[in-house]
Amino acid sequence: MVSITVFKGTKDGSIKQSKTEKAELSGDQVLLKVTASGLCGTDLHYRHADMVLGHEGVGVVEEVGPQAKYMKKGDRVGWGYEHDCCGHCQQCLTGMETFCPERAMYGFADLDQGSFAHHAVWREAFLFKIPDDLSDEAAAPLQCGGATVFNALHLFNTKPTETVGIMGVGGLGHLAIQFAAKMGCRVIVLSGSDKKKDEAMRLGAHEFVATKGAKELKVSAPLDRLLVTTSVQPQWDLLMPIMAPGATIFPLSVAEGNFEIPYMPLLLSGLRIQGSLVASRYVQQRMLDFAALHKIAPIVEKFPMTEEGITDAMEKLDKGDMRYRAVLVPQ
Ligand SMILES: NC(=O)c1ccc[n+]([C@@H]2O[C@H](COP(=O)([O-])OP(=O)(O)OC[C@H]3O[C@@H](n4cnc5c(N)ncnc54)[C@H](OP(=O)(O)O)[C@@H]3O)[C@@H](O)[C@H]2O)c1
Ligand SMILES: [Zn+2]
Ligand SMILES: [Zn+2]
Repeated sequence: MVSITVFKGTKDGSIKQSKTEKAELSGDQVLLKVTASGLCGTDLHYRHADMVLGHEGVGVVEEVGPQAKYMKKGDRVGWGYEHDCCGHCQQCLTGMETFCPERAMYGFADLDQGSFAHHAVWREAFLFKIPDDLSDEAAAPLQCGGATVFNALHLFNTKPTETVGIMGVGGLGHLAIQFAAKMGCRVIVLSGSDKKKDEAMRLGAHEFVATKGAKELKVSAPLDRLLVTTSVQPQWDLLMPIMAPGATIFPLSVAEGNFEIPYMPLLLSGLRIQGSLVASRYVQQRMLDFAALHKIAPIVEKFPMTEEGITDAMEKLDKGDMRYRAVLVPQ
């Protein structure tokens, strides 16, 4: 039995330190010592839930279960949104396990542990070895934020000749700019104001458009694909005229309400809307290798992993002041 320190959401939104008891390791379970955790926009949605928060974890293997084969003590590993799946259904067999009917995911399963913790116990099969070229702090935000935007680009076959729009320069968006640029695309960034222009251009954007208050958007080339990474749904009617015929829109935001877009432009331009959720393990490992090779890393602000540190980080993220991903470091 191990007793691990964890940090939970509560009804009133305050962050509470607590303890979780874990039995002896069984099967391919692995005990990790957490060394870094990203703070994703999705964690804000669970702040009022009675569960351990965090799903962008990196740690070091401390102990392996009786059937673990690929990990050993001392390995640096990460994990993200999905903790388990059935391994037998059509989705699992085709590498689409994030849509397995029996998936175990953040917010729905294993609520007694997460990456806002000093330790965690996960199945080896859902852990990713971290390439040597990525530090723990750089690798943590890649586990959900990086995986999500890379998946939208990679799984749906982005070509280097495409013009890719990235809307929202936050945790996801600032990684999406880097991935799309390194894939060889023309990258056009859409952001609320001009505040993040210089940083976006440094990260590889070719063009930057401020959207707030605009009646019409002007871009040098219509978008073949648009990744929407804003924390709320955008004004869809503003975006329709800048989409290329046959383009795909990826609404990645986790947001309330219905998805409503102007209907006829969808038909007349043959647009596609593609839902996308984090990444399968295959895509996630490819993403880590791609990031290490091309020196793609998040820009992070570090906070102590304490009740106060997590609260401060969440408030900064909520206010829109984070540049660009908080990383919590256990004390
Ligand atoms: N589909 C998935 O699998 C998946 C995975 C992870 C996260 N998500 C979701 O993706 C979204 C982004 O996550 P994140 O971690 O990147 O969050 P984030 O760091 O807060 O970034 C969101 C960005 O949205 C823009 N924004 C903020 N407030 C806004 C407002 N009131 N109106 C319009 N735009 C606003 C800002 O960009 P600008 O300043 O550039 O405008 C901000 O940087 C969240 O909704 C999250 O839950 C989805
Ligand atoms: Zn996330
Ligand atoms: Zn399955």
